[in-house]
Amino acid sequence: MRRGAAASLRPPEGRCRRGARYGARVRVGILTAGGDCPGLNAVIRACGRRLMRAGHEPVGLLRGYRGLAERDHMVLDHPALSGILHLGGTILQTSSYNPFREPDGIEKVKAAQQADPLDAIVAIGGEHTMMITGRLHEEIGLPVLGVPKTIDNDVTGTDFTFGFDTAVQIATDAIDRLHTTAQSHDRVMVLEVMGRNTGWIAVCAGIAGGADGIVIPELELTVEELADGIARRHQFGKDFSIIVVAEGAELAFASGEKRVIRESEETDNYGYPRLGGIGEALARELEARTGYETRVTRLGHVQRGGTPTASDRLLATRYGIQVAEMALAGEFGQMAALRGAEMTSVPLSEVEGIKTVDLRYLEVARTFF
Ligand code: F6P
Repeated sequence: MRRGAAASLRPPEGRCRRGARYGARVRVGILTAGGDCPGLNAVIRACGRRLMRAGHEPVGLLRGYRGLAERDHMVLDHPALSGILHLGGTILQTSSYNPFREPDGIEKVKAAQQADPLDAIVAIGGEHTMMITGRLHEEIGLPVLGVPKTIDNDVTGTDFTFGFDTAVQIATDAIDRLHTTAQSHDRVMVLEVMGRNTGWIAVCAGIAGGADGIVIPELELTVEELADGIARRHQFGKDFSIIVVAEGAELAFASGEKRVIRESEETDNYGYPRLGGIGEALARELEARTGYETRVTRLGHVQRGGTPTASDRLLATRYGIQVAEMALAGEFGQMAALRGAEMTSVPLSEVEGIKTVDLRYLEVARTFF
């Protein structure tokens, strides 16, 4: 495991380190960046409580890296960290502020660190935030650490991100509900789920909900193949079908034609295109080919809001404790990670690209359609 350059902040024999630089307490800034996801507050709570227990001071940096650059802080004391375990969203609010892209962003970050130094900065975010966090460590030597979050489960270096289980549960609930109405009306139901450029949510919810077809960006499945599958189900006496499609999938045809469906040409602050709309396009094609009445549900941000599942609260809490330990040990430039059943850490420099779906999951799903 690669260690950061800074010395360990762990106090000798469990007492607070007292020194000219740190004073009585170590101050650790915590921020949440990028899109929100269920479990962020559980990480903030666990990290903050672990630090306080050792006599240190967690500080909330508001709206992602903007809070660091503009010194917009909030106190994270016991009352602030109490009663938030089960809450969705983030008490620290979030933004896609990227100091490398904002005018004077890096200068502001440096000035803030000089005026009011933080001994460690914990950034909870997705793949893009991890990249920014890695650069802040490499290029300006900030004492930063990362915690991976996203409903998409696409961050490399870790097996699972918190928030993913909640999104899968919400999508599975939706499939269950679609089943009863699809069955009553002999309809095809197309459910579009999030996941950006990966199909993790689609595949896992599709298996858990018993979908009859799953379309993901990682593997081409043509409209004709799907339509044939639906027709076969009808021959076997099933008059309804549920198709789950990931927002990042393409519309593929047997002719070799592929259509990229986008809600708009707009990109977000990180440069990602706004996805969405494949569900409607796919439904039209399926209805035209099968002749079965088809309806579409796009789950959208419902997948990101509200209460985290018990499993996500547990995982988020483990991430929070892990990153607090890493901060106290001075493991800067590292990201907390889940490998198998163990919490560990990996260098942020190794967190790159996106983690695509393990296609063995899709093989499991295919047993049933
Ligand atoms: O990365 C999480 C996610 O919810 C994706 O699944 C989705 O494509 C995107 O964020 C939506 O972003 P926004 O909230 O900016 O619309």
